[in-house]
Amino acid sequence: MIRYRRWRRSPARAIGTLSVCLGLFGLRSLAGAQPGGAVGTVGGDIMRGWREFHDKMCVECHAVWDQGGRVGPDLGRIRAGRLTDGQLAGVMWNHIPKMLGQMRETGYPPVTLSQEEMADLFALIFFVRQLDEPGDPVRGESILRAKGCSECHQTRAAGAGIGPDLAKWGRYANPIVWAQLMWEHAPMMEEAMKRSGMKWPKLDGTDLVHIVAYVRSTGTSGEKIYLNPGSVARGTALFREKSCQQCHPGTGPDLAAAELPVSVGALASRMWNHSPSMMQMMVEKDVSRAPLTPQELADIVAYILALGNVDPRGTSARGKDVFAQKGCGQCHQQDGKSRAPRLSRREQGTEVSAVYMATAMWNHGETMLARMTEAGLSWPVFNELEMVDLLAFLNASEAPPSVADPGGR
Ligand code: HEC
Ligand code: HEC
Ligand code: HEC
Ligand code: HEC
Repeated sequence: MIRYRRWRRSPARAIGTLSVCLGLFGLRSLAGAQPGGAVGTVGGDIMRGWREFHDKMCVECHAVWDQGGRVGPDLGRIRAGRLTDGQLAGVMWNHIPKMLGQMRETGYPPVTLSQEEMADLFALIFFVRQLDEPGDPVRGESILRAKGCSECHQTRAAGAGIGPDLAKWGRYANPIVWAQLMWEHAPMMEEAMKRSGMKWPKLDGTDLVHIVAYVRSTGTSGEKIYLNPGSVARGTALFREKSCQQCHPGTGPDLAAAELPVSVGALASRMWNHSPSMMQMMVEKDVSRAPLTPQELADIVAYILALGNVDPRGTSARGKDVFAQKGCGQCHQQDGKSRAPRLSRREQGTEVSAVYMATAMWNHGETMLARMTEAGLSWPVFNELEMVDLLAFLNASEAPPSVADPGGR
């Protein structure tokens, strides 16, 4: 037990370190970060989530980029593609037995969570997953050379002087600022590249982050400048105001359906790769290329990334099968005769949401696991969209209503 304690003592320090790694402001700006808005059902608060991550002792077992315990996985480093609300609820469900086992072993008191707290933790987990791992300066330098950037750009003394010296941008740690600069200057860069017979260099997912790390490592003077995390709500509005919506979806891909990268830096690289075709199409369609500030681009990127958290529509019929196959019906009969609570909440007019399910599972996991063990059942595991379908079933009209509450405070 002792070995976990040290992380809980210093949330403020941990928040500071995290913020600096991310190129974000410290406490103050994170406090305003609201991923809620037009997309995503969760609407939690990242900063509150980060506090709860410490208060609820998640940090004793989980790190975010090495800041925290090592019992569970580092939540900043597990990144297997997109994760929707329903999938996150499924992932948390699957890990309950192991997590409870660890908690028992280490003598933890049980921790209850309210739905609001769970929503905040969801917001934090999504946010952390969208961040890029810190870049590697050595790789960044070789990328600048390999991609031909240093044919035109100087950093320190090396490189040609056709484009501006990039060193001064080292004040910005956030790849968003770079994406914005590159977006803004793409037309001129394309011209310059055409003149020197160069092809538009394509950047891979992590290239930009390494480039930023390299430029920062060249020891730029001046105050470091940080950004606020993007706001989904503002991004939703900007996506329209900045004409993105004229082509997306339409002549451009539907970004909600596209296989987009899940991190900020990788998404920025993707936009860079598509810049020439986008610019050409803008000329053809007579759409003006609206200038973007870094903060605006951060908001737009937050919006695009949040599109990836939205669950696809679940199928109630499939959910009914999931309910049967996973054995939920063995205890949760939906006719009110069983001792386990009925799960549908239709009578209250409230939805069984992913956050509700995760909260309920968190608070009741211990009892449920015990009952399952008694009944000789193994803990059911949810894959892919099974949780989404199950939620659709519980919210559909054929499931009888009940007044279940997920507990917590
Ligand atoms: C006593 C240790 C412990 C505590 C406390 C704990 N966890 Fe975990 N957690 C684990 C372990 C161990 C796993 C991996 C389980 C597995 O592999 O099946 C895990 C897995 C997870 C995962 C899935 C990660 C993945 O693989 O995608 C999430 C998300 C998660 N925990 C969130 C939380 C949150 C949020 C809290 C606080 C409310 C918390 N955990 C508290 C030990 C803990
Ligand atoms: C063929 C020459 C050329 C190449 C190759 C090139 N750039 Fe540029 N770059 C320019 C020019 C010229 C500008 C100034 C454009 C303007 O003023 O609108 C510029 C501007 C920029 C800016 C904005 C800098 C500022 O101070 O405003 C950034 C950031 C940038 N380039 C990054 C890159 C990266 C990263 C690469 C490699 C992937 C790259 N460039 C490749 C010519 C080039
Ligand atoms: C005039 C039409 C047009 C406008 C306006 C436009 N785009 Fe695009 N966008 C496209 C096209 C076409 C592509 C596909 C380019 C390609 O295949 O190379 C694209 C690709 C993208 C991609 C990569 C998608 C993928 O599947 O990899 C992103 C991200 C993107 N655009 C974001 C934006 C944002 C943000 C804005 C507003 C600031 C915007 N676009 C404005 C036409 C447009
Ligand atoms: C072995 C019996 C058993 C099985 C199988 C079982 N549960 Fe439970 N479940 C319970 C009991 C008992 C409770 C009440 C626990 C408590 O009061 O802390 C409960 C509580 C819950 C709650 C909280 C409901 C509320 O009103 O607070 C949810 C949500 C839930 N279960 C979902 C499921 C799902 C989904 C499945 C199938 C994957 C499932 N359970 C399988 C016994 C079971």
